[in-house]
Amino acid sequence: MSHTAFLDRPVTTAPVPTALRMDNVVLTFPDGNGRITAVDDVSLAIERGRSLAVTGPSGSGKSSLLAVAATLTRPDSGQVWLETRSGAVDLAAADARRGAELRRGEIGIVFQQANLIESLTAREQLEAMAWLGARPSKARRRDARERADDLLDMVGLGDAAGRSAGALSGGQRQRVAVARALMNGPSLLLADEPTSALDSDSGRVVMDLLLDTAREFDVALMLVTHDAAAAARCDAGIHLVDGAVVH
Ligand SMILES: Nc1ncnc2c1ncn2[C@@H]1O[C@H](COP(=O)(O)OP(=O)(O)OP(=O)(O)O)[C@@H](O)[C@H]1O
Ligand SMILES: [Mg+2]
Repeated sequence: MSHTAFLDRPVTTAPVPTALRMDNVVLTFPDGNGRITAVDDVSLAIERGRSLAVTGPSGSGKSSLLAVAATLTRPDSGQVWLETRSGAVDLAAADARRGAELRRGEIGIVFQQANLIESLTAREQLEAMAWLGARPSKARRRDARERADDLLDMVGLGDAAGRSAGALSGGQRQRVAVARALMNGPSLLLADEPTSALDSDSGRVVMDLLLDTAREFDVALMLVTHDAAAAARCDAGIHLVDGAVVH
């Protein structure tokens, strides 16, 4: 597929198939006088092109685990290795600036809500990703637009590229969010209950997209879901109870 070439990246290090590896990650939060352990000694690995489902009851630490992988939260202890364009980085040791850089270039995130900017069109949501942190040259702007349109085509919204966010359905908005997460060619795609706000048909389309994308673009996918059928479609899964992996 032509889009694949589009996400190709220069290889600066020997290819390492594992995109994300967590070793003994612990995350606690203050809770009254003590602390609550949201992530309790979790280790996992996801290879590029593969998907890992994270399931577990409400409050079991799924979003907390994803937030650690997203550099949105730093764990108390453990290592979180992300294989980036310039080699392996320990996200657990990344400061806020490095974290922001990694989220811009290496990590795509999709939440339950699409979080689109209402005043922008579908295409502009994606283009904005390419402009973050960089003053866009004319060539960059042209590239970003082509890339945005290719990705919107890929998610089945080629005809809606110029439509404003407010004119999109819930399912369409979430498809824009998936395309946007892929805009900067991440090696890791994180999705936290991406279909739970959608009806079952739209949810299936978004789930298909996420799973197809991981395989086709060689991106590691971590999918937090309550949906057993969606989890079963992933290559592997972990189940959390009280922050710990039980199987
Ligand atoms: N920012 C925070 N401050 C304090 N406690 C938190 C914070 N975020 C999460 N927690 C606590 O950590 C535990 C895990 O929460 P988390 O949101 O990761 O669960 P979850 O599995 O994603 O739940 P849900 O299925 O409801 O989304 C819970 O006890 C929660 O109250
Ligand atoms: Mg959650």
